[in-house]
Amino acid sequence: MVETVFIGVAWPYANGPLHLGHVAGCFLAADIFARYHRAKGDRVLMVSGTDQHGTPITLRAELEKRTPQEVVAEFHASFQDCWRRLGISWDLYTSTGTPNHARVVHDLFLTLLERGYIYPGAMPLAYCPKEARFLPDRYVEGTCPHCGYNQARGDQCDKCGRTLNPEDLRESHCKLCGATPETRQSRHFFLRLSAFNQKLLDWVRPQTHWRPNVHNFTQRYLEQGLQDRAITRDLEWGVAVPVSGYENKRIYVWFEAVTGYLSATQEWAQRQGDPEAWRQFWEPPARSYYFIGKDNIPFHTLIWPAMLMAYGGLALPHDVPANEFLTLEGRQFSTSRNWAIWLPDYLNRYDPDPLRYYLSAGMPETSDADFTWSEFLRRNNDELVATYGNLAQRVLTFTQRHYQGQVPEPGPFDDTSQRLFARAQESLDAVDRHLAQCHFRDGVREAMALAQEANRYLEETAPWRAIAGGPQAAATSVYVGLSVVSCLKTMLYPYLPFSSEELHQQLGFPGTVHEAGWRWQRPSPGQRLGEPHHLFRKLDDTIVEAELGRMAASVGR
Ligand code: MF3
Ligand code: ZN
Repeated sequence: MVETVFIGVAWPYANGPLHLGHVAGCFLAADIFARYHRAKGDRVLMVSGTDQHGTPITLRAELEKRTPQEVVAEFHASFQDCWRRLGISWDLYTSTGTPNHARVVHDLFLTLLERGYIYPGAMPLAYCPKEARFLPDRYVEGTCPHCGYNQARGDQCDKCGRTLNPEDLRESHCKLCGATPETRQSRHFFLRLSAFNQKLLDWVRPQTHWRPNVHNFTQRYLEQGLQDRAITRDLEWGVAVPVSGYENKRIYVWFEAVTGYLSATQEWAQRQGDPEAWRQFWEPPARSYYFIGKDNIPFHTLIWPAMLMAYGGLALPHDVPANEFLTLEGRQFSTSRNWAIWLPDYLNRYDPDPLRYYLSAGMPETSDADFTWSEFLRRNNDELVATYGNLAQRVLTFTQRHYQGQVPEPGPFDDTSQRLFARAQESLDAVDRHLAQCHFRDGVREAMALAQEANRYLEETAPWRAIAGGPQAAATSVYVGLSVVSCLKTMLYPYLPFSSEELHQQLGFPGTVHEAGWRWQRPSPGQRLGEPHHLFRKLDDTIVEAELGRMAASVGR
């Protein structure tokens, strides 16, 4: 049965280049999932865009004496370049700066206002007496009232993950000048989250297919009770409030950015020339998946669902497979301290598939994971090059040399061959199940275990010795080898799209690996192979020290 799958992916702030933490947090998993479902023949829409509003952007612009628009333009272009080079296969990658987005946000805002789910009220706001201005939430820092973390921001605590208001913080201070903020009243609009507490609980409790950390975190939050939240701010940069008297205010980035999932789907439909086509992804039986990092959980399991409930008629998230964090050589990624591997730098020096492989095999699905250059080197050299690449290379060049580059006609399949065939089919089915459940790590490990099995088979059947008895004597094991390599190309395609496509060509199949679909495509005897060449490059040991040196030289700068 053809499924309809909506894939929403966290909208990255345009306040700095992407780094490997972003890739591991949500973009890679989403892309694997999208490629898998497309290969299965499902109807897929994967969307996101650049989040161009919010204080992360105005903060950077202020520090660099540029306009927010200049900062946004630079990083939006950089993001799009990265997606292409890393192979992130968006159906639409847009931004929150489009007129369409503002229109959809306004529609949602006004609809909820009319229904009483948004209401005006006075709000105590942080005001810096020294700077003589209202302080956006992120400009206020202090101690988290829930967990005691002393660098909590006025919008969220990075330690315990709770969303906060600036006045919740103890010992708060202005991030720009260190002064103690005063509290002044300002008129704002509030989202009536309290009205959805019970409905959300009833909806969340039975979602037992959610990852345990996502499910538990969300339930705990609801059990403590949701409070209404202000969804406008005293800012100049952002989507306007569509009510007169609020000209100096903007819609708060969180209410606005999550609406991007809906506005992007509508933009996609308009670009298709079928403006109503968006509905198929927002109405049953469509299933929506939201790929995000764990710091974004409450916005996707509470606030966005509450907004959807208030609006009505649109599908709630089916799953929110949030990843945990990636650390770098044992420490947190930090944009401000320059402790990061920037994605554009990585892509200038290395190929995309080794990174996709490494971050899949060690994806922070259930706990934090650490990126180290030595482990990157090991996985590339021992697993991609020695296990998988070498397997493909061996059978392809052997066929080239001894069978004039044509798939040989196999003899009868002995027990060993039949066992490997059965194993390959089981692996393909297992990867299928893992991917359907968003178990990305397990899927890629299963595929690599099959590659190992196939190497053992070739060691055992040793076609390079058997060939002494004539081409027919080695034909069966060569045929089996080529077939299993073809099976691997399919199950690894969502993870390693570039090398799978190359392998598809080298095996001499027509069309693309994507078009071949999710099935074991066996080569036909007589099929002419493409030119064999290495799928992966062996990396020299010296890159580890070189990269660590590069990082040490740039940290803190
Ligand atoms: N730009 C925000 C962040 O990076 C929000 C991303 S998810 C969204 O944390 F859906 F809200 F956009
Ligand atoms: Zn906290």
